[in-house]
Amino acid sequence: MFPVHRPRRLRRSEVIRRMVRETILTPDDFIYPLFVTFGKGVKKPIASMPGCFQESVDEVVKTAKEAFDLGIPAIILFGIPEHKDEVGSSAFDPHGVVQEAIKAIKDAVPELLIITDVCMCEYTSHGHCGVVRDGEVLNDPTLELLQKEAVSHAQAGADMVAPSDMMDGRVKAIREALDSEGFSHIPIMSYAAKYASSFYGPFRDAAESTPQFGDRRAYQMDPPNRREALKEVALDIEEGADIVMVKPALSYLDIISDVKENFDVPVAAYNVSGEYSLVKAAAQLGWIDHDRVMMEILVSIKRAGADMILTYFAPEAAKILNG
Ligand code: PBG
Repeated sequence: MFPVHRPRRLRRSEVIRRMVRETILTPDDFIYPLFVTFGKGVKKPIASMPGCFQESVDEVVKTAKEAFDLGIPAIILFGIPEHKDEVGSSAFDPHGVVQEAIKAIKDAVPELLIITDVCMCEYTSHGHCGVVRDGEVLNDPTLELLQKEAVSHAQAGADMVAPSDMMDGRVKAIREALDSEGFSHIPIMSYAAKYASSFYGPFRDAAESTPQFGDRRAYQMDPPNRREALKEVALDIEEGADIVMVKPALSYLDIISDVKENFDVPVAAYNVSGEYSLVKAAAQLGWIDHDRVMMEILVSIKRAGADMILTYFAPEAAKILNG
């Protein structure tokens, strides 16, 4: 009751604010997404994502090393292959871009944790996340391709695989495939509650994975649904997911919070491309303070319950945190 209670007492100086701060970001929270392409000496800026590039293996090794030196513990790799076909066969080519990048990064920075995105959309000519027949993305035939892709990443030396396709039953299928190939120690980070979001727009330019017909609403989740996210997460944990992800992050902070409250596995959140590009664009126009908005966004995702954050801001935020 006023004037006995004056919450402002604990806000008067930075030192006291530091003492009562409930959420502390560190570079340990970040997973940095990188785009690998074919060729040599390639570092092609992604127009809609300032500061992000499509990089050939030799270049991505340098970027990975820089991230590691900033204290970022992990990266997640996306591939842009030279050839795409109906079934995305370069996704499981032992000499594919992601496979080669894993080997080269492991050589140069063995302690950096390498996660791979397991999905077909970057490798298929039609840009969908699975096998297409008569305009329909088929679930069960896709599982076999995802198994091959995950095993191929593990064989190349990936430390963790992250299926992002939203096919039913894929975590179990991938777990079985990894186990039977001698990779029972490789964890699965499942994109468990992944919504059909317009915030992926810039990523699809970056990964050249825009569907050639239709959209992804028949497999990714419908944005208005909240309880359904808990069902998706429960199923993935049952199937063997070690870490569950909510994606996107900002318009889905309620989902992150629900997942954190209801389950006891680590929760990841993906601060996606559109969320990044909005900040970059507004900052370029001089409408916001880039660094402060970036840090506020990242801390909000952690405060909601994320144990780890996949973010294109990782190096910039780590620099600020390292002082
Ligand atoms: C692949 C995949 C996508 C993203 C991560 N993995 C695109 C999509 O589902 O269309 C989006 C990442 C981002 O927007 O930053 N399926």
